[in-house]
Amino acid sequence: MYRLALFGDLHLEKVSEIPGVVEAVEQVFGDGADHVAFAGDIVDAAQTEVVASLVNRLRRLGLGPTKVSLVPGNHDTFALSEPLTAEKLWRAAVARDSQRNYEQFCQLVAPLVAEAPGELLLPPATFPFGKRLSRHVALVGLDTVRGGTRLPTEWATGQLDEEAADAMKEYFDQHADAVHGVVLMHHSPLDDVPPVEGIELRFADPSPDIVRNWLAWAGVTLVLCGHSHEQRVVRCEEGFAVVEHESMSDDPPYRIVELGPRGGVNTRR
Ligand SMILES: [Fe+2]
Repeated sequence: MYRLALFGDLHLEKVSEIPGVVEAVEQVFGDGADHVAFAGDIVDAAQTEVVASLVNRLRRLGLGPTKVSLVPGNHDTFALSEPLTAEKLWRAAVARDSQRNYEQFCQLVAPLVAEAPGELLLPPATFPFGKRLSRHVALVGLDTVRGGTRLPTEWATGQLDEEAADAMKEYFDQHADAVHGVVLMHHSPLDDVPPVEGIELRFADPSPDIVRNWLAWAGVTLVLCGHSHEQRVVRCEEGFAVVEHESMSDDPPYRIVELGPRGGVNTRR
């Protein structure tokens, strides 16, 4: 049995909040977890100093890529906080700092993402990465935050590049002997993620149904994500399960996902 602890959407704002997260991580490992996965939105408004501090604290605990995985969320990239206003979106568009925030985020988390150069599926990019966690579990981490343009007007929708999808499939093909093909990504591939205050949260490029088809084609058995601020487990007709988790309203802030040696999945809060 391989045990993953899924943390989603911590939305940290200050360095002073980090000890609570570190305590939860220590607790989860103390309780027998094998791996901790952060599904993005670690911070609320691209506070890179908070990301840096969290990475340092986890590294000081001796945790590295075999124990921790992490992908970016829109809040890690855009210096926007809620409630969103047209003025904030306009300012973010003018400042054009989301690309710089994104690059800083990738640089800061790189030591936690991949150990061997071969774990970067499209080097030198930090994402996507692929890791063999155990005999039964292979994990791919995808960046689904709006690539390239990183337009504030589309700041919360999801994007998955075809190149990343191809790299994911190639990785899972190489690890076809793993019964669990797990994907960690910020955005949910489901259709029924409701907008928040009129802001669309679903995949926009491509559409959610195409993303699900790509995931099924790549041999994915389980998707771990956040972003929707839902707490649910859904089995898609495409054949894989989706676990959506957000940590802010949950105590303890993680969900345990148990992966059995014969392909069974059990999850509990
Ligand atoms: Fe998000």
